[in-house]
Amino acid sequence: CGIIGYVGELDSGGQTDGGAVDSVGAIVHEGLRNLEYRGYDSAGVALVGASSGLTVAKRSGEVDGLTVPDVPDATHGVGHTRWSTHGPPTDANAHPHTDCAGDVAVVHNGIVENYEALKAELSDHEFTSDTDTEVIPHLIEEELAADPDADLLAAVRRVEDRLEGSYAICAVREGNDRIIVARRGSPLVLGRGENASFVASDVTAFLEHTRDVTYLEDGDVAALSPDGVEIVARGEPVEREVETVTWEADAAEKGGYDHYMRKEIHEQPESLRQTLAGRLDVDAGDVDLDVSFPPGFLADLEEIRIVACGTSYYAGRYAARLFEDLAGVRATVEIASEYEFGAGRTPDRTLVVAVTQSGETADTLGAVRRANAAGARTFAVTNTLGSTVTREVDGTAFIRAGPEIGVAATKTFASQVATLAMLAVAVGRDRGALGAADARSVLEDLRGLPGAVQQVLDEEEQVREAAREYGDGEAFFFVGRALGVPVALEGALKLKEISYDHAEGFAAGELKHGPLALVTPETPVLAVLTDGARADETMNNVTEAQTRGAPALGCVSAGDEYDTLDVSFEVPDVGVVEPLVANVYLQLFAYHVANDKGRAIDKPRNLAKSVTVE
Ligand code: G6P
Repeated sequence: CGIIGYVGELDSGGQTDGGAVDSVGAIVHEGLRNLEYRGYDSAGVALVGASSGLTVAKRSGEVDGLTVPDVPDATHGVGHTRWSTHGPPTDANAHPHTDCAGDVAVVHNGIVENYEALKAELSDHEFTSDTDTEVIPHLIEEELAADPDADLLAAVRRVEDRLEGSYAICAVREGNDRIIVARRGSPLVLGRGENASFVASDVTAFLEHTRDVTYLEDGDVAALSPDGVEIVARGEPVEREVETVTWEADAAEKGGYDHYMRKEIHEQPESLRQTLAGRLDVDAGDVDLDVSFPPGFLADLEEIRIVACGTSYYAGRYAARLFEDLAGVRATVEIASEYEFGAGRTPDRTLVVAVTQSGETADTLGAVRRANAAGARTFAVTNTLGSTVTREVDGTAFIRAGPEIGVAATKTFASQVATLAMLAVAVGRDRGALGAADARSVLEDLRGLPGAVQQVLDEEEQVREAAREYGDGEAFFFVGRALGVPVALEGALKLKEISYDHAEGFAAGELKHGPLALVTPETPVLAVLTDGARADETMNNVTEAQTRGAPALGCVSAGDEYDTLDVSFEVPDVGVVEPLVANVYLQLFAYHVANDKGRAIDKPRNLAKSVTVE
């Protein structure tokens, strides 16, 4: 989602790059347009004027469809563009959200994990949306009612103490002339103009007005006025550095990276945190995915059939193994365009799981329709609330990866696998196939996933060098076993999609049954040699390729060593998700090989992000 806030004197407007500023509403609306790439299923604004009070306008749909009210005396305002995580994209669920009295308005990014408990406490408040956000203005209202002398800053600080999760918040209140913001886990940046202050989820929102910015740190609460900003951390006023942004708007939109793909690769620790937020109960060895099945359905389940295309299909292949290992149920995965219900199966004992980032892939929707027609129970794992697939299946789990712009899927693959792993634990626990101790160990691995991915990202320089040294190969072969197979397939897909080089993934054992004929000193082999991927056996196959002169690069579990590898990438110890972490090396490898060749990384030739034809 995207956040923008502005408080300032008009006609000075804080602009350093020229141009008259005619109204607060216009600045906020323009900020929303600049942010639309971060999420675009609904938009809204809240404007505060000295005599007009608080005016809110919001609706589902794109930013341009939002009519921002004309509030001539507005002194400040906030706006939001939404990528739904809790509640479908409806007018009511759009931000800002308000309290009962309509005096306080809040926009929010992130997830309030304990919102259900908080909502239960607020039983005398009337709620008008399905969002987790709406508890925040109501809690602020309670704080202000309890202590009428408290200002909005103090109320937000007290409310913040009660929220669990990761978030960025902006609040405004009728009769109050400041914007109050708070950051924990979701980015917020302040813009310091002349007689004006800005806040946004990223600098693109206000770059045409000021390039002097302050990045808030976790735990910071700040009050913005035309005169400047006051920042408080752990109850004490603090000064934070003012930096000057030198990027152009186009680069800023990519967070300073050259390509969305690289930005999205680097976003994975954060997107995975969102995927897992509030869903893991490690102590109890259970997960809460907010999904339900008819009584007895999971116990009687005969088969899980996963249908998907492209990268989602490889996420499905990863998941099929997890379903068999953790949930004790037969699991198969099929390319959606090839799927038929098939003979010898019992529809009411079959769960068909469609994995689709966009929720709009025609081949996957076709498979869901065939499964529904056969009478099977259907389920979707998707990134997109309100997408077509969610309307056609019996249940859905959202991966919460945030919008992905690069055509080559990266962060959504990681979040799909993490979500499916949680589903496998949930199904395994329900069926009695997975004991609490084993579940706990998987959940601990999942909890370690964002940090492990960050450790890999910190090694990007090593991957860049390897890409430079081996990127001119004639062809590239990716191998693995067990959970390493889908990662090898995905690694090859990534490389071929964006570098246009010939790349193939194989089950390592198959190398000797054919592909070995293609191996030469000009064909680097990349191997997944981690836990969950039968590393020693895979290494035997890698050695066969090395004997034919091929250079070998391996993703190796921390503490293990294969001396003969030409390059060894270290993968932190996270059990069954180690191959998923290894995949981040392969993403970076593909990126740097393609970048060195000057390819159109975010929009590779002939490919589309979402393919809506069969
Ligand atoms: C297209 C994209 C792929 C994607 C596939 C499935 O082919 O280029 O990156 O993996 O569609 O998309 P979905 O939205 O169903 O996950």
